[in-house]
Formats: sequence, structure tokens, C-alpha cells
Amino acid sequence: MPSDTLPRFAPPDAAATPIHILPQETFADWMGAQTERLQTWVESCGFRAGLGEILRVPGEDGELSAVLMGWGKPAAHARGRFAVARALNALKTGTYKLDGPLQGDDLSEAALGWLLGGYAFDRYATQSPPTAKLVAPEGIDASRVEAIAAGEILTRNLINTPASDMGPEALEQAVRDLGAVFGAQVKSTIGDDLLTANLPMIHAVGRAAEQAPRLLDITWGDTGPTLTLVGKGVCFDTGGLNLKPGASMGLMKKDMGGAATVLGLAHMIMALDLPLRLRVLIPAVENAVAGNAFRPGDILSSRKGLSVEVNNTDAEGRLVLADALALADETPPDLMICMATLTGAARVALGPDLAPFYTDDANVAASLAAAGTRVRDPLWRMPLHRPYDAMIEPKIADLDNAPSGGMAGSITAALFLDRFVTDTARFVHFDIYGWQPTAQPARPKGGVGVGARAILEALPEVLNL
Ligand code: BES
Ligand code: ZN
Ligand code: ZN
Repeated sequence: MPSDTLPRFAPPDAAATPIHILPQETFADWMGAQTERLQTWVESCGFRAGLGEILRVPGEDGELSAVLMGWGKPAAHARGRFAVARALNALKTGTYKLDGPLQGDDLSEAALGWLLGGYAFDRYATQSPPTAKLVAPEGIDASRVEAIAAGEILTRNLINTPASDMGPEALEQAVRDLGAVFGAQVKSTIGDDLLTANLPMIHAVGRAAEQAPRLLDITWGDTGPTLTLVGKGVCFDTGGLNLKPGASMGLMKKDMGGAATVLGLAHMIMALDLPLRLRVLIPAVENAVAGNAFRPGDILSSRKGLSVEVNNTDAEGRLVLADALALADETPPDLMICMATLTGAARVALGPDLAPFYTDDANVAASLAAAGTRVRDPLWRMPLHRPYDAMIEPKIADLDNAPSGGMAGSITAALFLDRFVTDTARFVHFDIYGWQPTAQPARPKGGVGVGARAILEALPEVLNL
């Protein structure tokens, strides 16, 4: 599927080839109920129903009549997600329908895995992802799964596009395109206007880049509870004057992964027409090096009035987010969620799959974590350990953007952001990685959204929708 096509299920099709999903525990029983001819075929091919085993079954005339997919044991599923994409990869073309014991969340996961398994990023070179189609399984909400897949693909495309084509200007254009599809309002505050609008830290971080820094502000919906999403839109992070070494800079086109993820989530929310009022704020900047770059030791004043000593120009994400959060906080929403590729420490702690999040609200945390488990978008709550507040207080200014010592790097970044939000109980912050380092079923190497599907699933409970 080309990366700019919307993911879709095939329409109901009586001629679709069935894929029989076969758990290993019930495989012997299933075999017992088959014709002798089929039993012989299965045995002679050595098919054992291990997870991911695929066997094509020929019909009387040698045509493809069915596919068997081994579903293995629960322990095999514990090691990964979206196993059904393995069938898609093996089959490549054709139209299929799922048959077997999958239900509920497992069936939705399979359907989503199929749609996402067809994704490849082909903006710069032809790709040949599998094109096989799946008829929407009965019992799932097909248009919801399609909307979720489309949001996730938007996230991946935005992250995968390199900074040469995804600077602050292109990110603004992507936001405007999304707004146009769903009739959302889009406002931007650009360059020196950031100073007049009192968003000084967004200006300070982004002013050295050729493309002017900006704050993008999207609003959509006119009834229901209010939700504000804030996403880190650092289109490239050189580290600034505290320049990153080459190996650490290599992937920094993904430093707008928070923005990409909240935009993917916004796509899902708007496509599903959820009864809420949505606002998305994205500080879009490039953290570049030039004579007018902000410097180590500079003391910045922030929108909120707190002064910030810059002890490392590479801790830029919390600076641009602080101004955006302070602005968001002036019109307090029922729930505020921030997403950012904020610290290397978060990746060291939890790796690329598990999205670490912070909140003071235990109920919100429990809802999010449970939702993440249901929709296979696992999250892990991290502690806002207030005794570490001292680490972000440098004395010469109100706050230090980069405490020395390297202790609890993701926690101190979260505590820093918290200072810019008044009602921290309704605030959730995700410190995500935004990148799939090695290909997995339905997740090729490259940009990936984490957390958005879990949030979407939790919204009805958290916002009383
Ligand atoms: N964008 C990086 C964080 C990052 C690095 C995310 C690698 C994912 C993978 C962020 O701007 C940064 O450089 N943070 C510094 C903060 C430090 C200087 C206090 C970090 O984590 O090293
Ligand atoms: Zn940085
Ligand atoms: Zn960064």
C-alpha cells in the first residue's frame, strides 16, 4: 500500500480465501475433524500450528482453497504483537477472510495488524509491501480500525520524512492539511511574532534555524469535554551549541515524534467524530547551530514567568514544550496530554515498545494502562518523585533545563514540565521513543506511534464520553 493511501478492508467477498487460525492447543482436535486428504497434506508438509507457520491448501483443481495459520501457544504471543501480519507477509497478494477462534480484542488486533502490515514508506523509493486484502472480520468495528490505522500511518509518514522535507514549514503544512480534511481551525504564530505573543522559549530554541520557529494551534469540535494535546515538534535536534556527537544525531529527524503521534491521535479522534472539543498545540522548531543560537548559561524567561537557566542546549524539548503547556494551561482543559521524544533516559529505562508516562492521577493512570493492554499499545506509569524537584532548581534561576549528574533523567524532565501546568492532576506526559529499531510484524523499521491507540481507547472512561 503506498504510504499516502488510506488503509482499507476489502468489501465482503464470497470468493475470499479463508485463513484458518489454528491455536496449537486445539490443533489435534481440528485435525481430527478434517478429511483424510487434508490430513495427509498437513502432515506431509510438516505443519504443526506453531505461531506464524503458514500452509496453503490446494483445492481439487490445484487452486488455492484455504490457508492455515499456526497460532502457537499463549507464551509465543507474549513475545510479540500483530502476529497475523506474518500471514500477510507470506501470502503477499489475494483477498482473504479470517476464520477461527479469534474474538473481541484479539480479533481487532488481528484486523489492525493486517492493515498496518501493508504499510511501507515509499516517498523516496519504490517499496513492495504485501498487497493482500482482508475482508473486515465480523464482530469488529471496521471503520474504527481503519481510522486507527490511518492515524498511525500519518504518524509514521511524518516521522519517516527527513528534516530536509519535514522542517517547521512542512510540519505546519501537514497540520493545515489535516485540519482541512476534518474542518479544524489552524492558527500559527511564526518567528518574531512568538516574542510578541509571549512564547519566548519557543523562539529562543528555534531562532537559529533557517526555517522560522512557530507554534501551531489546532482546534476542532464544539461540544463535549475538552482535551488538549501538546506534541514536541523538534524537526531536527542537532543538540544546538552542545552539539550531539554524530552517532546520537543520526536519528534526530524523529525528534518531532511527539507532534507526529498527537497528530495521528487527532486524526483518529476527528475521523471517529468523538464528542469532545480538541485542541492540539505543537511548537515546531529546528534546534540548529548558528551565531544567533541560544547558549549554555543563557537564562531564558518563559511564558509562565519562570526563569530557566540553560545548562544544556540539547535539553531543548522541555523549553519549547514549557511555553506551549503554559499557553494550554491558560484555558484549562478537562485533560491535557503531552507527547515528546524528550529524553534518552526514557529509552534506556523502557526501550522502544513501552511508552513511559507520568501523571498524578491514579485513576487516569489505571485507565490508560488497562486500555493499553486491551489494544496492544503497552504503557508504563513512571513516578513523579517530588524529592527530585531540588535537582531542577539551580538557584541562579527558577529552573535548570539540564540537571548535572545524569540521575533520573526522564523523571526530572517530567518534573520540569509539571512546573508549567497548574492542575497537574489532569495532566499526562509521555516520554516516547517514536522509532521501531528492528522490523516486527506490522511495524517496519522506522517511525512508529506509541501511546495514541491506548489514549484513544481510554478516552471514554477518562473523559466520560
Ligand atoms: N531529543 C532528545 C532526546 C532523545 C534522545 C530522545 C535519543 C530519543 C532518543 C532530547 O532533546 C535530548 O537531547 N535530551 C537530552 C537531555 C539532557 C541534555 C538533559 C538527553 O536525553 O540526553
Ligand atoms: Zn536535544
Ligand atoms: Zn530533542
